[in-house]
Amino acid sequence: IRKQKLIPKAQYGGRHAVTMLPGGGIGPECMGYVRDIFKYIGAPVDFEVVDIDPNVDNDDDVQYAITTIKRNGVGLKGNIETKSEAAYVTSRNVALRNELDMYAYVLNCKSSGNIETKSEAAYVTSRNVALRNELDMYAYVLNCKSFPGVSTRHKDIDITIIRQNTEGEYAMLEHESVRGVIESMKVVTASNSERVARFAFEFAKKNGKKKVTTVHKANIMKLSDGLFLETSRRLAKEYPEIEHNDMIIDNCCMQLVAKPHQFDVMLMTNLYGSIVSNVVCGLLGGAGLLSGRNYGDHYAVFEPGTRNTGTAIAGKNVANPIAMINASIDMLEHLGHHYHAELLRRAVHRTVNEDRVLTPDCGGTASSTDVVNSIIGNIGHVGH
Ligand code: NAI
Repeated sequence: IRKQKLIPKAQYGGRHAVTMLPGGGIGPECMGYVRDIFKYIGAPVDFEVVDIDPNVDNDDDVQYAITTIKRNGVGLKGNIETKSEAAYVTSRNVALRNELDMYAYVLNCKSSGNIETKSEAAYVTSRNVALRNELDMYAYVLNCKSFPGVSTRHKDIDITIIRQNTEGEYAMLEHESVRGVIESMKVVTASNSERVARFAFEFAKKNGKKKVTTVHKANIMKLSDGLFLETSRRLAKEYPEIEHNDMIIDNCCMQLVAKPHQFDVMLMTNLYGSIVSNVVCGLLGGAGLLSGRNYGDHYAVFEPGTRNTGTAIAGKNVANPIAMINASIDMLEHLGHHYHAELLRRAVHRTVNEDRVLTPDCGGTASSTDVVNSIIGNIGHVGH
């Protein structure tokens, strides 16, 4: 990362402005905990809160969020609900022909009037994806380190997942070419493959990592994943001190749940990254612990690692607040507020690993607010 460009200058009094996107589900309550804790420790951060309503059919909120992140340089984000069903406007001309099952066309030089079709797709795309794409945050980093206080099958896992974050299977280019036939495009470019591969090798070099594993399905997707794989192999030659190997995604998932200690840094395309991230989060104790980081050359956004909304448990005081609090620690670290980041990190460590104040997802009986109160209590201890 070109740090100088990425880290925004502090404002008057050494404070930073950060865009806060609470999102849906448990996002708002988790952001409330972060704000309480930041107030308690006196973190020099002022939040600019932008609520994005996923039910509104325009993207004004998203554009506003993008503008504020561009201004502040940094965001802290919950997940914005994305509806699964498509509500997009297809060509009325095509729809007419398809609905009437007019499967053959005979050109007899007598035309009917054409109905104008808007060129822009009006379907509701993922706001999360739109944000990452518009801010060109091409690399996603998920540090997956075991929590000694959370009981899991495998101990002492230490894996970093680096995921291409702006293209691949998330290009959101899907269409129904004829009724019943959906085509979905996976876009892999040489330039983005190179940027994220370089990011992975540079990350490994700077953090004393020994190995990078490129995960792919190039045996089937020979051109797209083939390009991604070949690019990482080419760049690996520039980093002879770092071992490089590759693994097919299917085998990778099996290896991960059986022998996770063989992995160090893992590099992959967008969808594999999402799936593998959830697998590793599951190995370490679930959705409520790990935080993830989105980076481009200019902006950085911090969020819980699995990126889901937890809508079913919202408002019940059972959500694990640790993932969002860890995201806020990453953010403080990024802004150069090392003292506050370390203070909070040590308090979280004590709550989770020593006092074992855990929510039900990690096998405990504590409520979300019990965990937050324990962290606040521990700040006094670790601060001395
Ligand atoms: P979900 O929100 O239902 O969560 C999956 C499971 O993890 C649930 O059992 C939930 O209770 C649990 N969980 C999540 N966070 C937790 C926490 N902090 N503490 C305790 N338990 C927690 O996941 P689902 O159904 O996969 O996705 C819901 C929404 O999230 C959808 O709108 C989807 O589009 C979005 N999503 C977005 C992703 C992205 O990359 N932006 C990735 C995954 C989901």
